[in-house]
Amino acid sequence: MKMRDKKKHKVVGLFSGCGGLDLGFIQAGLDVVWANDFFKEAVETYKRNISEHIVLGDITQISSSDIPDDFDVLLGGFPCQGFSIANIKRSMKDERNFLYKEMLRVIDDKQPKYFVAENVKGLLSMQNGEIIKMIKNDFEEIGYVVDYELMKASDYGVPQHRERVVIIGNRLGLKNPYPEKTHGNEKGLLPYISTKEAVGFLSKVRIRDKSFILKGTKIINHKARTNVHDKFWGRKHKVNQFDICDYLKFWRAESGWSTKRVDEHFGYAHTAGHWFRKDNNSGSIPNPSDWWELKKILGFDDKYDKQVTELELKPITFEQSLRINNWDTPSDTITATGPEIHPNRERRMSVRECALIQTFPPDFEFVGSLGNMYKQIGNAVPVLMAQRIADGIKKELDTYDEQQRNRTVREQVLK
Ligand SMILES: C[S@@+](CC[C@H](N)C(=O)[O-])C[C@H]1O[C@@H](n2cnc3c(N)ncnc32)[C@H](O)[C@@H]1O
Repeated sequence: MKMRDKKKHKVVGLFSGCGGLDLGFIQAGLDVVWANDFFKEAVETYKRNISEHIVLGDITQISSSDIPDDFDVLLGGFPCQGFSIANIKRSMKDERNFLYKEMLRVIDDKQPKYFVAENVKGLLSMQNGEIIKMIKNDFEEIGYVVDYELMKASDYGVPQHRERVVIIGNRLGLKNPYPEKTHGNEKGLLPYISTKEAVGFLSKVRIRDKSFILKGTKIINHKARTNVHDKFWGRKHKVNQFDICDYLKFWRAESGWSTKRVDEHFGYAHTAGHWFRKDNNSGSIPNPSDWWELKKILGFDDKYDKQVTELELKPITFEQSLRINNWDTPSDTITATGPEIHPNRERRMSVRECALIQTFPPDFEFVGSLGNMYKQIGNAVPVLMAQRIADGIKKELDTYDEQQRNRTVREQVLK
């Protein structure tokens, strides 16, 4: 049993997964006392590396009375699938969108001083910004001062250009502290950390199921998918992008719909402009479901239906996919669905490489099937970025506690 440090600020984690966000707060010197997730393997990973305090279960089925009282910070990377711009069916009706309400419930019941919520970039544009407004209002209504910012992990020394919306709220009228950038191309900042710097040492090391010793260091989870000859859904027919976009431009003008109105109809921000080559941009062809919807509102004929909507499975060759992950710059986002192909190996990035890019410590061991491990890592907040957020909150809380102590002393003296 871990001994609790009474002086440390206490944290509760919801939707903790394997613990990226929670670990960042621990590394900053806070004490996570309780956590929850319903993803079995992620919970096992959390227990193995962080602590047994995580409870496996669906948060909608956990009553607030089963969560400890008197903690200072609530964390919650509430699920993002329903919000993501990668998901074309995203909608306010997706019930996962409302899992943040569980977080709202726990905050309202427990009144932590701070909360931190993390989500995908798509949250900002969803329903023309209505969703983020709704979330902010909901937290304000229960007494919190709320801010949100789009943070790029590479700006804080993470070897990955991952962008995430971070919402911070507090109920004490304190600052919601967002960390200063430390890395970047601008003068005065440290250079970005590249993929090569983070995982280059594993590049020539054979992947294997078991752990092994490399130059005196134990390497775990250096296992990887090897399917580099993948397939993707591509267009069956040759298309001329300009012709199709100019055709759409003509029909939009005919129908009297403005580009803005079309965007509003779809719930997009600045997407339709590309379909109509607004400002003479190079244009992009709508995906098949958007095409059929456009046809309903603009009333165009069948001229390009086949070209736009008929798709087929096409192979990706290894040579094409070689360029997928960056090597001399920070990595692209490590996703939960499938790892990128290694820049110069005929395999995908290994679990360990993905974990290092997400700034998990080298000895953090993942549990579960290969797919499950990739999912836990891709879901996580980069540990270093979480730690930088936590540093700011700890500083605010330390100052607040100090002021409270001084006030109590003054009151006692005056008595
Ligand atoms: C974006 S991930 C959070 C990652 C985590 N913050 C980290 O840094 O590692 C969202 C998590 O929410 C969990 N989740 C989704 N619905 C849940 C529910 N109803 N109850 C508990 N956990 C849930 C998922 O299993 C997933 O691990």
